[in-house]
Amino acid sequence: MDIYNGWLISNSYYNPAKFNSLYKVLQESAERAGLRFSKWTSSERATVIGSTAREPKPSFVLFWDKDVLLARTMELSGLRLYNSARAIELADDKVQTALKLTEAGIPIPETIPAPICFPGCRRDPKSAENAAKILGWPLVIKENKGSFGQQVYLANNVGEAARILTQIGEHDCLFQRFVATSAGKDIRVTVVGGKAVCAMTRQSQSKEQFRSNMELGGTGTAYALSPFEEKLAVDAANALGLDFAGVDILFGRDATERYVCEVNSNPQLQSTIDACGINPATNIMWHIRSQIKAGTATV
Ligand SMILES: Nc1ncnc2c1ncn2[C@@H]1O[C@H](COP(=O)(O)OP(=O)(O)O)[C@@H](O)[C@H]1O
Ligand SMILES: [Mg+2]
Repeated sequence: MDIYNGWLISNSYYNPAKFNSLYKVLQESAERAGLRFSKWTSSERATVIGSTAREPKPSFVLFWDKDVLLARTMELSGLRLYNSARAIELADDKVQTALKLTEAGIPIPETIPAPICFPGCRRDPKSAENAAKILGWPLVIKENKGSFGQQVYLANNVGEAARILTQIGEHDCLFQRFVATSAGKDIRVTVVGGKAVCAMTRQSQSKEQFRSNMELGGTGTAYALSPFEEKLAVDAANALGLDFAGVDILFGRDATERYVCEVNSNPQLQSTIDACGINPATNIMWHIRSQIKAGTATV
């Protein structure tokens, strides 16, 4: 089997200890697919805009960061990134995701982008009040960029919304209809190369917690997707151009009602491995290998 060499790029500043086990899973899975990578932080791979990547160029760059501008700079230098800069950009911003998914005809909870707030200005709770006239209370408020459920809030009234908006400040955010039928639970689908590899339902710890994220104490259970759910997840990943993705799906009133909540470009792997007994990193590596062999390794 030919061996292909690549890079794994991680963020220079955010590098919690739990990432060590992630890197180990990625490394072991890569080796099984005949891929080898060296690990770099974003600052260690400083790239001049417009420069050409030096030979020998890596056959692939596993971009485990959300640094879209570095990603784009690397692509311009002739490297093929997994995921691509554009796909990460679309997935990492929840309003951009909402726009793309809606263009593709994929159902999402009704979403209103909040007015942009410049540094030094104060957010006006009227914006939440106006959104709630359309979307109702309680109202979901989310920062456009966020993970682990940490920048996702639920406001029961305008007073709560005002406090949340003050906390969010100048960060971009959105208002969203609260999908009550999915409170505290959702489906996480891992999609690789246009196929749903596995899925789990996630359940929050308590009735009071509407967010099902593992990082907030949620638990995962392997789940058999319906053909409709499977298509929704695959379509969502494809609409954003993601080679691999974690797609969150909310439950509606019956089996025909589902909403794509968000799409992750750096999906959590360990919780999926624990719940499903399947390691999606293996699929990711074989997908990269097939792309290299298909000659799409350089752009
Ligand atoms: N509109 C909504 N209605 C009901 N629950 C929601 C809604 N949006 C998010 N949630 C819950 O909050 C969790 C976190 O939201 P999500 O948009 O996935 O942000 P994050 O990127 O932080 O994971 C979801 O997994 C889901 O359990
Ligand atoms: Mg999520």
